[in-house]
Amino acid sequence: MSDGGIDLDELAAAYAYPERKPWLRGNMISSLDGAIRYKGNTGALGYDTDWQLMQRLRGLADVVLMGATTIREYTEYPAGAGALAVVSRSLELDFDGPLFTEAPAPPLIYTCESAPPDRLRAARARAEVLLTGEDSASIPAMLRDLDARGLHRQLCEGGPTVLAEIAAEGFLDELCLTLSPTIVAGAEPRILNGRAIDLQRMTLRHTIRDGDYLYLRYTKAE
Ligand SMILES: NC(=O)c1ccc[n+]([C@@H]2O[C@H](COP(=O)([O-])OP(=O)(O)OC[C@H]3O[C@@H](n4cnc5c(N)ncnc54)[C@H](OP(=O)(O)O)[C@@H]3O)[C@@H](O)[C@H]2O)c1
Repeated sequence: MSDGGIDLDELAAAYAYPERKPWLRGNMISSLDGAIRYKGNTGALGYDTDWQLMQRLRGLADVVLMGATTIREYTEYPAGAGALAVVSRSLELDFDGPLFTEAPAPPLIYTCESAPPDRLRAARARAEVLLTGEDSASIPAMLRDLDARGLHRQLCEGGPTVLAEIAAEGFLDELCLTLSPTIVAGAEPRILNGRAIDLQRMTLRHTIRDGDYLYLRYTKAE
């Protein structure tokens, strides 16, 4: 695989948020056959430029949003992120780990009434916890709350389950996809996975090539 040595500033400049607020951008990488990872490892699909761009996109956003399964893979605060929002039912998160203890501000955790009380207590010691539903956090209520906090430019880094829920509720304004020059096969999930949605037509905003990698940016068709 080759990367073409694209200028990172030039690449990042193509990702300015639009004026409209709020705006929710998803950013994902997939193999040519649509897999989100190889043998459980998302990093296997990417390379340095993709990693650097992800950090730049975090810097452009007011808040970075992740599902609990994705954030459980992080041992440290996501590099380049300002505010962090996590959605979880179980609250099985390492609240004593650096992700929470070294966060620049307490992360926002969106959860539900059915969350285990002991986990709720642990979460509240390290994060701002919001209950936005009974058995699941309401995605629309979560996004309205982020907007009300002035966190208008939203970046969801997945995973596929949360991204599918966001799309199903009609909130996915934009999808940035890095197409990795790899074939994975097997049974790895797609970049949106789980909840079914009505067919969503998207409009291509840019295609940027870096060697064998493609950076695609689509917005929701009007
Ligand atoms: N290729 C890429 O660009 C990319 C990007 C991101 C992630 N990934 C990969 O994707 C995998 C994880 O994705 P995933 O789809 O399994 O999980 P995910 O979307 O990261 O997180 C799913 C979890 O989020 C919580 N959740 C989701 N909807 C909720 C709701 N409405 N209310 C409350 N909690 C809710 C639940 O957490 P609890 O379990 O705590 O209840 C659920 O188990 C990892 O392997 C990661 O490496 C790949």
